[in-house]
Amino acid sequence: MAFARLSAIVAIALAASQSANAAATARPVTCSTGHVTANAACCALFPVVDLLQDQLFDGAECGEEAHSALRLSFHDAIGFSIHGKLILKILGGGADGSILQFSDIETAFHANGGIDDITDGQHPVFAQTNLTAGDFVHLAAAVGTANCPGAPRLQFMFGRPPPKAAAPDLTIPEPTDSVTKILARFADAGFSPKEAVALLASHTIAAADVVDTTIPGTPFDSDSQVFLEVLLKGRLFPGNGSQPGEVLSPLAGEMRLQSDFVISQDSRTACFWQEMINNQQFMMSQFKAAMAKLQVLGQDTRKLIDCSDVVPVPKPFTQAIKFPASFSKKDVQIACHDLPFPNIATVAGPAPTIPPV
Ligand code: HEM
Ligand SMILES: *[C@@H]1O[C@H](CO)[C@@H](O)[C@H](O)[C@H]1NC(C)=O
Ligand SMILES: *[C@@H]1O[C@H](CO)[C@@H](O)[C@H](O)[C@H]1NC(C)=O
Repeated sequence: MAFARLSAIVAIALAASQSANAAATARPVTCSTGHVTANAACCALFPVVDLLQDQLFDGAECGEEAHSALRLSFHDAIGFSIHGKLILKILGGGADGSILQFSDIETAFHANGGIDDITDGQHPVFAQTNLTAGDFVHLAAAVGTANCPGAPRLQFMFGRPPPKAAAPDLTIPEPTDSVTKILARFADAGFSPKEAVALLASHTIAAADVVDTTIPGTPFDSDSQVFLEVLLKGRLFPGNGSQPGEVLSPLAGEMRLQSDFVISQDSRTACFWQEMINNQQFMMSQFKAAMAKLQVLGQDTRKLIDCSDVVPVPKPFTQAIKFPASFSKKDVQIACHDLPFPNIATVAGPAPTIPPV
């Protein structure tokens, strides 16, 4: 699976502006491993990146572990609550790695169904490093995402203290939640409705194991772009009928989350959702910015060191966004009436069946 297309031109422009910024702020250092980085403290991370690629991501693949590492960073960070901090003094530490350190507690939360696969996968790799759980979880997410063609190169800030306690339950959105409930939860963690939508670009590299346990590994899109496919008229359930949190999907082998669909249709989010379609530079920059915020939630960023240059540079994804075969604009459930819907070509041939990941 891939984050849909980032044009090569955009990649080059971004790379040029990033290196210009780095040159202006710091003098590069060469680590004993030969890697070059803006800050000597980041040298300790290059061997950890190699360890992650070899032992967790099957040699730098955008596979299930990479997807799950990204989901884990969200489920770790979203345990943060502004309201809980101010009123009840029950807050999670945010992006602190508590989901890994206290995995025996947090994997039992309903919204964390299936996440024990990735905490079990990360524990033996984590044990070989000197990182805190927070740095490990959020570095793994950045590195795993970088293995997916067309993904942005996520920021990585280094130096989170160890987590103090497990996050409280019921802070992670569920696919059965209403838009109002989901947006309220994001707002309580400090995110606008637009940032919540931007974070859902992640569902372009996502699949479900536990929504319908009869069809593990069922993806949310056909490797083009989740923002387009969630709008297509639903026709079928890919597995054992209708399960909680699932609505009709347009394609055999594809699952549509109820939460993605209702967010795509709601007046508070529909136009921003539509703006993401066939707008690669925009989708990636919005996702990157929202992830940068998510991955330091609850942290004192003045004490963290920017080690973003240890994150591998993702490959661009060069295919154009297209409607899956047999679909066209007439199949789109347009919910934004203020903006024109983009013109998108259709893949030739009969409607596809999407293979599991
Ligand atoms: C409205 C908020 C969200 C809801 C309700 C939601 C719900 C879900 C559900 C139900 C699954 C499938 C789990 C399974 O059956 O295995 C899933 C997968 C996934 N989600 Fe979300 N999600 C949300 C937001 C996010 C965000 C903000 C991110 C990351 C920034 C994210 C990243 C992922 C990824 C990468 C997967 C695939 C995991 C894998 O393939 O192992 N999700 N999500
Ligand atoms: C962890 O720290 C110890 C003590 O400082 C050091 O000997 C060891 O090489 C470090 N391990 C890694 C993987 O960085
Ligand atoms: C299929 O779904 C039904 C209704 O949700 C459920 O009762 C049944 O156990 C499921 N079958 C399997 C094999 O999971």
